[in-house]
Amino acid sequence: MWKQGVTASGPLMQRALEIRGTRRFALTLLTGGEAAMRVMDDILLARLYDELVVGGNIHKTTRRNRFKGLDQQVLAIVRERFAAVPELLVHDVGASSGITSLELWRSLVAERPTRMHASDYYAVLLVVRMANCPWAVVCEEDGAPLQFVSERFVLRAVQPESVLRPVNRWLQRRARKWLPQVDALLKAAGAGQQNAAPGRAGASIERIQLWHPECSLTAAAEPRFSVGRHDVFATMPPKWHLVRAMNVLNPGYFNPERQRVAARALAGSLLPGGVLVVGRTREEADASTAVSFFVREGNGLRVLLDLRGGAENRDLILEAGGAL
Ligand SMILES: C[S@@+](CC[C@H](N)C(=O)[O-])C[C@H]1O[C@@H](n2cnc3c(N)ncnc32)[C@H](O)[C@@H]1O
Repeated sequence: MWKQGVTASGPLMQRALEIRGTRRFALTLLTGGEAAMRVMDDILLARLYDELVVGGNIHKTTRRNRFKGLDQQVLAIVRERFAAVPELLVHDVGASSGITSLELWRSLVAERPTRMHASDYYAVLLVVRMANCPWAVVCEEDGAPLQFVSERFVLRAVQPESVLRPVNRWLQRRARKWLPQVDALLKAAGAGQQNAAPGRAGASIERIQLWHPECSLTAAAEPRFSVGRHDVFATMPPKWHLVRAMNVLNPGYFNPERQRVAARALAGSLLPGGVLVVGRTREEADASTAVSFFVREGNGLRVLLDLRGGAENRDLILEAGGAL
């Protein structure tokens, strides 16, 4: 008839984490600032990132050690190709929480000076709360609603709840009635404002940075590690020796034309001789990753290496990158 979600830490959350069941986790668990994020364990953070679907169909799934084996391959290529470079410049695109960027940076920086920029387009969530509204409404930065969270329930904002859970469906219909007010509030507050809710007593907007707390702390302390917002489709002047785009250019996310635009933008951001790494995690359990390494030569790309058959869109990337 209904299914409650996980909305607070405690025994219910622990059990839900242990059994890996279908109970939905409230994205509001990410609120409370960096200090709260810091005390969360990695299992919970990974679970919350699994919960995040942005831009309609794009998952933010990531986890520590996801690219342990791949990082060794990257190190080998860097040693071989960039031995003479005084400082290696690396961009990790679509980095989600950035934890895998940090891991790669740590491996690289142990061997040589390396500057790493981890970027993602969906790096912030907004949590809107209004007086008399029983729901906290979690939205993307552009206002697209993602979740309704009450004391006990966690509902999707857009996709209908299952017919097997009529209570959830009924609650979802009621919660959706608040969306015009959420929209008006966000528009009145303007982009990028926190706790600004003009003309509405008791309303608040909280911004949640989606970088892993270890990334935020490292970025604050280390000038050679930074995080920021970047759109994979946006062009950039050639400035990187190594660009990595893992689990971003998935055919399930973007049609071939969009993938081509992104491939051109990524290839165009490479310095001459720079390396582009594109691929997808096939088996999460054993971190098996199908990857292609491309090198920028002249105005095009050449395949340097394919692992596990290479990226599924390898040829498309090669073709698009050949037309810089
Ligand atoms: C599945 S996650 C991959 C995270 C990490 N690279 C990994 O493999 O563990 C895909 C990421 O791509 C990001 N993304 C989606 N569209 C994007 C865009 N247009 N520009 C930059 N990043 C984007 C999402 O926000 C998400 O964090």
